[in-house]
Amino acid sequence: MRKIGILTSGGDAPGMNASIRAIVRTAIKNDIKVMGIREGYSGLYNGDIYPMDRRSVSDIIQKGGTILKTARFDSFSKKEVRRKASQVLKVYGIEGLVVIGGDGTFRGAQGLGELGINTIGIPGTIDNDLAYTDYSIGFDTAQNTIIDAINKIRDTSASHQRVSVVEVMGRDCGDLALHSGIAGGATTILVPEKKLSKEELIKTVMEGKKRKKNHNLVVIAEGVGKSDEIAREIETISGIETRLTVLGHIQRGGAPTAFDRILASQMGHRAIELLMVGKSQRVIGIVNGKIVDMDINTALNKKKEFNEKLYDITMDLV
Ligand code: F6P
Repeated sequence: MRKIGILTSGGDAPGMNASIRAIVRTAIKNDIKVMGIREGYSGLYNGDIYPMDRRSVSDIIQKGGTILKTARFDSFSKKEVRRKASQVLKVYGIEGLVVIGGDGTFRGAQGLGELGINTIGIPGTIDNDLAYTDYSIGFDTAQNTIIDAINKIRDTSASHQRVSVVEVMGRDCGDLALHSGIAGGATTILVPEKKLSKEELIKTVMEGKKRKKNHNLVVIAEGVGKSDEIAREIETISGIETRLTVLGHIQRGGAPTAFDRILASQMGHRAIELLMVGKSQRVIGIVNGKIVDMDINTALNKKKEFNEKLYDITMDLV
């Protein structure tokens, strides 16, 4: 392996920079040249590629976002687009490609692998929706950002004795809602994986009212949808003033936590180790506290399991 490329793709995640830094520095230490590819697969397609050195990743370990920029490039699902991208890699003499992102990013890498490109995937998404790994880079930071916001919402919610409905990110996966819900002391958590009827939700709020509960916190994953309608209905039926806060993109920014920086550094380091021993078409994860790597097809075929136990605990702690 003489030259590698790195790109970040899909939604950004805090810790991506720490991973880029680890990849660049591990590669250079092992006499491998590194090319940065801007704006994900779209930059690869367009040849937006530049050489990186140790200094190009100075002072980024603590920064959110991605210095390589990112993009969602739907056309990459087309074979002819990937074929052109693989030609670009050949023109630049890039022998291995490390991609950091989520499910869509890995599918892009899988497609490039089918065209003979050596790829390694690093999970970077706040959603934590990749089944093969316990955690993806960015999830821990995002859940802490949410907790910070919930703590603030709690102050005002308790003062006004209201129901506070907080919508958090997570398109198809309720992990952010589940984790921030339990850590934030939510009354109820609504996630796409677990159907909870309107009646059950209102019942929890009403039971709290009977017990003279001062205020209620309902955490909803974005993937459930209609949080404004849900908030309105809670207010109408329970008669308790209800406010909705949609946290939005603040969840994607900010300095990565120590956990995310360490995870990102370990994963970036492993990516180069794999390429150096001739392994590719693999993705890196963390399982039971250990950094692991796995065939990309096996990883993408795994189905994410919802943590029922954690959900039940939350409901028991109301
Ligand atoms: O990266 C994941 C995610 O933050 C999802 O939770 C959310 O649904 C989506 O990205 C938002 O994407 P965008 O920033 O492109 O609107």
